[in-house]
Amino acid sequence: MITLENITKTYGGKTQVHALKGISLTIEDGEIFGIIGKSGAGKSTLVRCINMLEKPTSGKVIIDDKDLMTMSDSQLREERKNIGMIFQHFNLLSSRTVFGNIAFPLELVGASKDVIKKKVADLLELVGLTDRQYNYPAQLSGGQKQRVGIARALASDPKILLCDEATSALDPQTTKSILELLQDINKRMGITIIIITHEMAVVKEICDRVAVIEGGIIKEEGRVVDVFTSPRSQTMKDFVKSVINMALPDGLTKLGVTDQPAPDRDMLVRLRFKGAVTNDPVVATIVRKFDVNVSVLYGNIDYIQDEPFGYLIVVIIGDMETQAKAFQYIKNLPIGSEVLGYVPRNN
Ligand SMILES: Nc1ncnc2c1ncn2[C@@H]1O[C@H](COP(=O)(O)OP(=O)(O)OP(=O)(O)O)[C@@H](O)[C@H]1O
Ligand SMILES: [Mg+2]
Repeated sequence: MITLENITKTYGGKTQVHALKGISLTIEDGEIFGIIGKSGAGKSTLVRCINMLEKPTSGKVIIDDKDLMTMSDSQLREERKNIGMIFQHFNLLSSRTVFGNIAFPLELVGASKDVIKKKVADLLELVGLTDRQYNYPAQLSGGQKQRVGIARALASDPKILLCDEATSALDPQTTKSILELLQDINKRMGITIIIITHEMAVVKEICDRVAVIEGGIIKEEGRVVDVFTSPRSQTMKDFVKSVINMALPDGLTKLGVTDQPAPDRDMLVRLRFKGAVTNDPVVATIVRKFDVNVSVLYGNIDYIQDEPFGYLIVVIIGDMETQAKAFQYIKNLPIGSEVLGYVPRNN
């Protein structure tokens, strides 16, 4: 378990920069945890504080009950073997082959040739680069370079893998394959993965939980599926919007939506689902229980890993009182719901 307690980081110089202003987070073993934020939010600073590449100005970094802030340099060097890191621009050694890059951390700790050979062969196989081991970085694609980066990070058998914008330099297809590899590593080896990103699509694809950081402060954190269905902070809302469009489809705004009910108007409702509830026949139940018709205008069901989430925009057609009763019933269901307005009845 990783516990950050009230971490602050102020960069010195004439004009001080308060990059982190009191960050507290707990990350469980085996989790894939996302930290999302815009440029300059403090993401890289935060992730570098976790492995003490950057020493926090104050606060505590506790990994498996050990306080990294009080460790000596040699203790820290030892501890860092448990923490691998990969980078946006891969940071490979251009004068070394793929094999040489992955072998490098093992050479540093004085592993024998045989051990290195076996270990690197296993890692090459894991990341799917066995046939590229004698190539130099310049001969590889971005995705292949990041696979080398991942293999190198795993060479010291870390328990934690830190990824700072690891897919930001890659196209969407390659990003997907790298994220799949990370997920595979997480599942097979149980490695805790912390993913720093400015892309909500990355979070949606593989993270269990996410924290959003802005101006050196955590604005919101939670399970990805919860955050997607009901973001609380404006920052998180903006990020969620960037991958799922919760705005009313154009066609709907043209219907002439008003915010007051009227005898000749029907109720426009947005239902938000997550998890197994999606499969419940909510609409059918309302129609059966109340003297209303429900017409589905728009739906968007998506998946966060295996969990379904999404929303439906429906019109509840019936007299005013029954519309209100039906909505009261919906409000008590374990789904999100809101009245968007009232639209003129169709006939
Ligand atoms: N070594 C440094 N010295 C002084 N200020 C720094 C240093 N590193 C970062 N900062 C400042 O700290 C703040 C947070 O920077 P950080 O690199 O952590 O942001 P980030 O979220 O990773 O941004 P990006 O998405 O652009 O990588 C910024 O205002 C930045 O200018
Ligand atoms: Mg950064």
